[in-house]
Amino acid sequence: MVTVILHEIDTYAKQWIKEAGERIRESFPKTLNIAAKSNPNDLVTNIDQETEQYFIEKIKGTYPDHKILGEEGYGDRLEKLEGVVWIIDPIDGTMNFIHQQRNFAISIGIYEDGIGKIGIIYDVVHDELYHVLKGHGVFLNDIQLSNLKETSVHESIIALNATWVTENRRLPSDLLAPLVKEARGTRSYGSAALEMVYLASGRIDAYITPRLAPWDFAAGIIMIEELGGVATNLRGGKLDLLNQSSLFVAKPGLHGEILKKYLKNGQW
Ligand code: IPD
Ligand code: CA
Ligand code: CA
Repeated sequence: MVTVILHEIDTYAKQWIKEAGERIRESFPKTLNIAAKSNPNDLVTNIDQETEQYFIEKIKGTYPDHKILGEEGYGDRLEKLEGVVWIIDPIDGTMNFIHQQRNFAISIGIYEDGIGKIGIIYDVVHDELYHVLKGHGVFLNDIQLSNLKETSVHESIIALNATWVTENRRLPSDLLAPLVKEARGTRSYGSAALEMVYLASGRIDAYITPRLAPWDFAAGIIMIEELGGVATNLRGGKLDLLNQSSLFVAKPGLHGEILKKYLKNGQW
């Protein structure tokens, strides 16, 4: 993509995400329409849907040849990541949005022929805009974030949902228990996008989850890699941006330590 166009896309994307955030804040006093999707805890609201539709209108109106992969299904059906693709989660952390009216974010990753170029995650309630333009650094509002430093398990806070150390369909339930014991602490925020920006800004040191969709991590991984962090699936392999995947993101050094010692290099 020519740099000038990339900067233009970036400017629009930031403007649209801020506007979408404003609309979400304005919706707070209104009653939500809530529906369940794949199971009773997999929720969607009219605001998730309206926010995704808002982005699609803006993107298609300005860049008719760009493709959109959105969680709520109003975008395109994609089998490959050719050309410019916007990967959008209109509200990441819908359960928090409904129950808490905080701890959720809008996430947009923009890819060109499968390469992450722009990532924007907007924590609407705290008005914190995290942004990366590949090769130009990661910013939290106007402050540039520092590269991630190496750390050890004993000194780290790991984001991990308690589900994954109880009986579950995706992981042996005893796999991560030693990591939970040996780490300094664990946290679970209920929004993959926020967990990734907390890693980018040094508030946590790693995030591990066996089940995510591309819109949950498309933007965050561009930021983490830009800062020298490592983003893979739980077996240390390449992430799939078109299908469900596990996700393991961490500071450099720590990623290797956890992968080898606790995730057993994927041998489970
Ligand atoms: C969810 C959140 C949550 C993660 C789930 C995601 P949604 O996204 O990121 O933290 O554990 O797997 O589905 O449904 O609120 O957009
Ligand atoms: Ca999500
Ligand atoms: Ca969502």
